[in-house]
Amino acid sequence: MLKDLVLKNRSYRGFDEKFKVSAEILKDLVDVARLTASGANAQPLKYLLIADEEGVGKMNSLTRWGKMLKDVTLPHPGQFPTAYILIVVDTGICKDPNKADTDVGIAAQTILLTAVEKELGGCMIGNFDKELAAKTFLNKAEYVPVLAIAIGKPVETIKLVEVGEDGSTKYYRDETDTHYVPKRKLEDILI
Ligand SMILES: Cc1cc2nc3c(=O)[nH]c(=O)nc-3n(C[C@H](O)[C@H](O)[C@H](O)COP(=O)(O)O)c2cc1C
Repeated sequence: MLKDLVLKNRSYRGFDEKFKVSAEILKDLVDVARLTASGANAQPLKYLLIADEEGVGKMNSLTRWGKMLKDVTLPHPGQFPTAYILIVVDTGICKDPNKADTDVGIAAQTILLTAVEKELGGCMIGNFDKELAAKTFLNKAEYVPVLAIAIGKPVETIKLVEVGEDGSTKYYRDETDTHYVPKRKLEDILI
């Protein structure tokens, strides 16, 4: 069921580094994303597949994880993702990269749901050095990186909880490193 996939599709920030995600698997994920909706059907997104050790290492150093968790640095050593998909807006197709935001969200969620269906998982990373990513990985000035998606074999325990009385939506961890993600109740979001 789609809802089961959505429930399993958490933002994972810890992976089994022994499980190497291949470029072929990444290609399969993008092959599903390319079939989704796109404003005016312009399809301005391009995808860079990063599955080689050197490229993944570079992306690991450009990405920032779980910034709300003040006393932990994630991923933990030895738990980095083994692949990335860098989503790029081709400004030759869509001049203003911000105008492609909705397309980016649709594509990113589709990629992650497909990954979960394959018993993998990942995390959307908006907090990365986009300028350096462009310099390091992209060979065309028209290509503007907008979102990185880390992919790997998750090793984390993540639990959804209801937003409490204090109204905080901040995710948090307990002493066993279980990650909790507060979600608003249905009755609180229907207007
Ligand atoms: C557009 C977008 C950008 C995100 N960027 C980051 C990021 O840079 N680093 C990170 O650790 N998580 C990032 N996340 C993951 C969110 O923190 C996560 O979705 C949120 O905590 C809810 O957890 P869940 O995805 O498991 O429901 C991003 C999520 C989205 C949708």
